[in-house]
Amino acid sequence: MTRHFLRDDDLSPAEQREVLDLAARLKQDRFAERPLEGPRTAAVIFDKTSTRTRFSFATGIADLGGSALIVNPGEAQLGVKETISDTAKVISRMVDLIVWRTFEHAGLEEMAEHSRVPVINALSDDFHPCQILADLQTIREQKGELAGLTATYVGDAANNMGHSYLLGFVTAGMHIRVAGPAGYHPRADIIAEAEAIAARTGGSVTVLTDPAAAVAGADAVITDTWVSMGQESEKAERIETFGAYRVTPELMAQAKPDAIFLHCLPAYREYEVAPEVIDGAQSVVWDEAENRLHAQKALMTWLLAQA
Ligand code: CP
Ligand code: NVA
Repeated sequence: MTRHFLRDDDLSPAEQREVLDLAARLKQDRFAERPLEGPRTAAVIFDKTSTRTRFSFATGIADLGGSALIVNPGEAQLGVKETISDTAKVISRMVDLIVWRTFEHAGLEEMAEHSRVPVINALSDDFHPCQILADLQTIREQKGELAGLTATYVGDAANNMGHSYLLGFVTAGMHIRVAGPAGYHPRADIIAEAEAIAARTGGSVTVLTDPAAAVAGADAVITDTWVSMGQESEKAERIETFGAYRVTPELMAQAKPDAIFLHCLPAYREYEVAPEVIDGAQSVVWDEAENRLHAQKALMTWLLAQA
């Protein structure tokens, strides 16, 4: 059966571990897996802008022996002149993988339902699961075994990153705490799903409003932009709302002394994170960005092996 990766919980704990193990191997031995040799083609479609996702998928597909067909916003009939299901039926007869960054998560579900080949979510309004695989790889490099570690995500806990941290980190058996202002907490169904996974893996989920309490004793502190793609018209209001959630050296001091700092990037040093933190000794953001390449190559290899 064709497997897709639309949400973090599309991989079981054991499957997520397999992908992370393979990601570590591919980081050591870049051309060890060649599932797209031919070259076979992978479509990488963007409805929103991107730097890391674009470069990591294009490079990763080439490393796996394949050819990336990058489709920029507005370049395809998809969603404008043609339904998502018709596009899925057509392109999945030609390409071996579909990677799509879009707005509504339901669009990805429709694409997957009608595709003969694996569909990968390269970010939707609700989830960014490829980023979480890279974050897990980065934390494992720094801290070893993931299960039992505590990570705190501070800021917009209702966005795609907030949701994906909940699902992806409890799948790894971690304790995930999120802190955001009232009205910006994760969706109730995602909290419930994360709690159900945590009950099986030994992880836990804590949703708070106080950033200092959430960061206390954490192994990793994480944030993201306060203004996600598509929310630009709310910028002034959001900067006001999230002002108390900026990750400063003082907030980092509440975490463990050897805590690491992560940010999926792009980052705004004037808003969600102070330069002293993101450019300081505790920051692992450049490893985190590089690991997008290795984690996604592992994911593509794993998905293609299930078909
Ligand atoms: N972190 C991330 O997905 O970056 P891009 O938006 O640049 O792809
Ligand atoms: N939450 C951000 C993540 C960017 C990688 C956004 O959706 O814009």
